[in-house]
Amino acid sequence: MSIHILNVVGARPNLMKMAPIVDEMARHAEIDQRLLHTGQHYDDNMSRVFFQELGLPSPDVYLGVGSGSHASQTAQVMVGFEKICLESRPDMVVVVGDVNSTMACAITAVKLWIPVAHVEAGLRSLDRRMPEEINRIVTDAVSDLLLTASRDGDENLIREGVDPARIHFVGNVMIDTLLRHRARAAASDVLGRLGVPPRGYALLTLHRPSNVDDRETLGGIVSALEAVQARLSIVFPVHPRTLKRLESFGLLDRLTAMPGMILTEPLGYLDFLCLLDHARLVLTDSGGIQEETTILGVPCLTLRPNTERPVTVTQGTNQVIGSTPERIVASSLEVLEGRGKEGQRPELWDGHAAERIVRVLLNWQQGNS
Ligand code: UD1
Repeated sequence: MSIHILNVVGARPNLMKMAPIVDEMARHAEIDQRLLHTGQHYDDNMSRVFFQELGLPSPDVYLGVGSGSHASQTAQVMVGFEKICLESRPDMVVVVGDVNSTMACAITAVKLWIPVAHVEAGLRSLDRRMPEEINRIVTDAVSDLLLTASRDGDENLIREGVDPARIHFVGNVMIDTLLRHRARAAASDVLGRLGVPPRGYALLTLHRPSNVDDRETLGGIVSALEAVQARLSIVFPVHPRTLKRLESFGLLDRLTAMPGMILTEPLGYLDFLCLLDHARLVLTDSGGIQEETTILGVPCLTLRPNTERPVTVTQGTNQVIGSTPERIVASSLEVLEGRGKEGQRPELWDGHAAERIVRVLLNWQQGNS
């Protein structure tokens, strides 16, 4: 008996989570899989380059929703996705992560009585001002199968009253991708292109609305960066949202004038992984990068008041430091003085999460058909 699975991606961080799942499904003759891209991210360097580098097949369906307010983006995904579900009637929809596309597709499918599996379920920052936190709560509430990356995910779901039979601890699928591509990434010439030596730079990413949409907060971060780059060069691939804000707040000229600041466009997966692997220090407000630095053993300072990935702090190299300039500078200097965290590999972040995920999906399907 064949099972028709519709896999959903929408934004950049979905792609590295979906790639190993698609690969693993291709090994199972009984799975007939389709890949749908909502088009939430559409720039070549936010989407297409990742398909190429990660070996993802071209999407079978592209909704092309693009950018917009949360309500309009979510609504457009739902309208487009509903039509596809009605036409193709998949046996199961798989969503990953916590972006608007994840939540929109989960709600749409479940209302059509199509079972939904959520990969990376159970993460909670307990900060409802983060759009992703709302997406996580809603997606988990409606999904049939909740596949978690760490034990705290299981605990959060149980605390919310979820039936334990729906929860499966499978490990971190994004780490499957990292381990698979680490050697290839090492061959990237990106350090030479940017003129930085191994361990001779900090790597920075910023895109959270709470950091970049407020003039005062972003201005404070820029002041802190000014102090840090005087001690250690900073490589900063700038997310499109952040670039717009830096321009509109008049902060871009200040950044480009800093001698130790190296600004680039958003980078592909392999270049970025190479930079991560060789950085002395990583400063970020991303979720996934907190996990990647933990596996690579690189000290990570998270410029947020909280994290939905506490295992990167309790076991990994991550420190959650907030966004005040004084703390950013002080914590960076501590790392430069050799006081960064070392950390260890969390349970089941072992490169085999996709195999466990597909096994759970097939077992569930057998039990329910
Ligand atoms: C989204 C996710 C976030 C994830 C991030 C990774 C939500 C709520 N947020 O945030 O969880 O960490 O992706 O990048 O889903 N833009 C472009 N080109 C693109 C995509 C976006 O220029 O290809 C610009 C547009 O101006 C857009 C803005 O970036 O308005 C924000 O894009 P959006 O997808 O709404 O959210 P992200 O900030 O990228």
